[in-house]
Amino acid sequence: MASCMTDSFKVHSCAHKRIHDKNDFEVEPTEKQRITMLSDKPVRKSNKENSMCNVTIKTKESHSENHKKHEKKAPKQEKAKHEFLDKLYEMMIKDGFMKARDRNEKVVEFSYPEELKQKIDFDLGSKTSDEKILSLCQDIIKYSVKVAHPRFFNQLYGGLDEYSLGGCWLTETMNASLYTYEVSPVFSLMERVVIDKMLGKIGFEDGDAMFCPGGSISNMYALNIARYFKYPEVKKKGIKGIPDICAFTSEKCHYSIGKGVAFMGMGLDNLINVKTDANGKMIPEDLEKKILEAKAEGKTPYFVNATAGTTVFGAFDPIDEIADICQKYNLWMHVDGAWGGGALLSKTYSPLLKGVERADSMTWNPHKLMGVPQQCSLVFTKHKGLLEQCHSANASYLFQQDKFYDVSYDTGDKSIQCGRKNDVLKLWIMWKNKGDEGFERDIDNQFECAKYLAQLVQEREGFELMLEPQCTNVCFYYIPKRLRGLERTPEWWNEISKVGPKVKEGMMKAGSMMVGYQPDGDFVNFFRMIISNLDTVKSDMDFVVDEIDRLGKDL
Ligand SMILES: Cc1ncc(COP(=O)(O)O)c(C=O)c1O
Repeated sequence: MASCMTDSFKVHSCAHKRIHDKNDFEVEPTEKQRITMLSDKPVRKSNKENSMCNVTIKTKESHSENHKKHEKKAPKQEKAKHEFLDKLYEMMIKDGFMKARDRNEKVVEFSYPEELKQKIDFDLGSKTSDEKILSLCQDIIKYSVKVAHPRFFNQLYGGLDEYSLGGCWLTETMNASLYTYEVSPVFSLMERVVIDKMLGKIGFEDGDAMFCPGGSISNMYALNIARYFKYPEVKKKGIKGIPDICAFTSEKCHYSIGKGVAFMGMGLDNLINVKTDANGKMIPEDLEKKILEAKAEGKTPYFVNATAGTTVFGAFDPIDEIADICQKYNLWMHVDGAWGGGALLSKTYSPLLKGVERADSMTWNPHKLMGVPQQCSLVFTKHKGLLEQCHSANASYLFQQDKFYDVSYDTGDKSIQCGRKNDVLKLWIMWKNKGDEGFERDIDNQFECAKYLAQLVQEREGFELMLEPQCTNVCFYYIPKRLRGLERTPEWWNEISKVGPKVKEGMMKAGSMMVGYQPDGDFVNFFRMIISNLDTVKSDMDFVVDEIDRLGKDL
C-alpha cells in the first residue's frame, strides 16, 4: 500500500514536470509559446526523471494495457482541462465580475433575437475546440445582461457579492444533492444552521423550513402544507375527499399565489382577492367581509396570504391585523416575504413585518433584498414535522431507516423534489463574511437610497412620485416637456403610457441602465425602480433621474 502511494505520487510529480516536454505534449504552437513564456527555461526531461516515470508506470503491473495508455495520456488531458478552466476563470473574474460591476461599462449590449442568433453559434453537433468554446464564453458574457452592474434596477434581484460568487463556484464544484446526509454531510448541517438563524429572525421559536427553487414554489409549498394541516386525508384521497376550500390574498399579491392555487387543483375561482388601500396594502376589513361572504356561499376558507413587500409597490400588508382575523376564523396565515423578508435583518425596518411571528408559514428569498445570487429561497413553518408528513414518499432506496448515522439529517423527504440543489452555501458564506451587522447596514442602505430617489423624483421637474416608498421600490411617472402643464385627459394619459416603453428602449440600446415599467390596475405605464444591489449608492439614484430625463424629455 505504502509503495503504491509512493508510486502514484511519482506519476504525479513526473507528470508535473512533463508538461514542459514537447515530445509528450502535442500542443498547438500557441500553447507551446504560452508554456515557454510561463517557465523561465523550457525544462528538458533528465534521464533520471525519465526512468522514474517509466519505473512508476511499470510497477502497476495489474493494470491492463488500456489503463496504462490512459495513465500516460492523463497528464495531457488534465493539463488541457486546467488550462480551459484557468482561462474561463480569468474571464469570469475580469469580465463577468469586475467589468460587469464597473459603472463605466454597459449594463447590456442589446441585440434583437435574430441578430443575436447570428452573433453566437448556438448550434450543437460536432465537437468544438476549447479555443472556440472560450470565445463563445466571451460572447455569452458580452451579450448577457450584467445583473451585477450598479445600474441594473430592473427586477427584484441584482448585484454580485464576491463571497457569494465564490460560494456559487464552490457549490457547482461539489455538485451536492441535498436529500441525504450521506451524500451531503456538510451542506445538510449548514442548511440546519441557516434555517435556525432565519427562524429566529422571523420569531418562530421552533419550526422547520425548506430551501426551494424560488419564491413562487415556496408559496406553493405553503398552500400545500396548509391544506394538508387541515385535511391530512387530501394526500391519499385528493381534492374530491375534502371540502370546497378557498384562499384569500390581496389584489396586489404576487401572481404565484394564483399559480399555486391552480396547480393544486383548487381552481382560480377559489382564490378570493381582497381589496387594497391607496398604498397597495390589504384592507383587513375587506378580508373579513370576503371570508364571511365565502362561508355564506358554502365555501370553506382555509388560507390567507399576507404579502410583506408587494412586487410592484413594495407594500407591506398589516400582518398583525390579518393575524387577528386568521385567529378568529381559524385560518392558516402565510406571509409572502419573498421580497420584503430581508427587512427582518434590520432593526429599523423589521417593524414593517410586525406580527410575522404569529403566522403559520413564511416565504423569504435571500436572492432578493439580501443580494444572494439566484436562486435562494426558503419556505418556513412553525409546525415542525409538517413538511415531512405532507410530502414524504419514503423511498426505500434513499431514505433507509437502518443507516449507520442519525437519519434525522436526511432532509430530502420534506421536499417535493428528489435531487435538490445546494442553495445554502452562497448564503452562508456571504453571512459569514458580512455578519449580522453587515447585512443590516446593507439593507438599511438600500432603504435609504430608495428614500433619496423618492426625494429626487419629487423635486425634479417632469417627474411625479406615485407613492412614498414602503420597501425599496420607487414608482413614478416621467412627463416629457411637451406634455407638461396640460389637462390630464384620457388622451394625455394615453401619451404618458408610451413614455415607459420608449425610454426603456433608449436605455437598453444605450446600455446605460435597466429600469422596469408596467401598468397596474387603473395606472397606465409607470416606472418601477428597484434597489436590490447591496452596492447601490446615492449617486446611482442621481444617474437614474438624469438618464430618464435625457432619454425622455423630447419624446
Ligand atoms: C412578493 C413576491 N412573491 C413571490 C415572488 C416569486 O419569487 P421567484 O421569482 O423567486 O419565484 C416574487 C417575485 O418577484 C415576489 O415579488
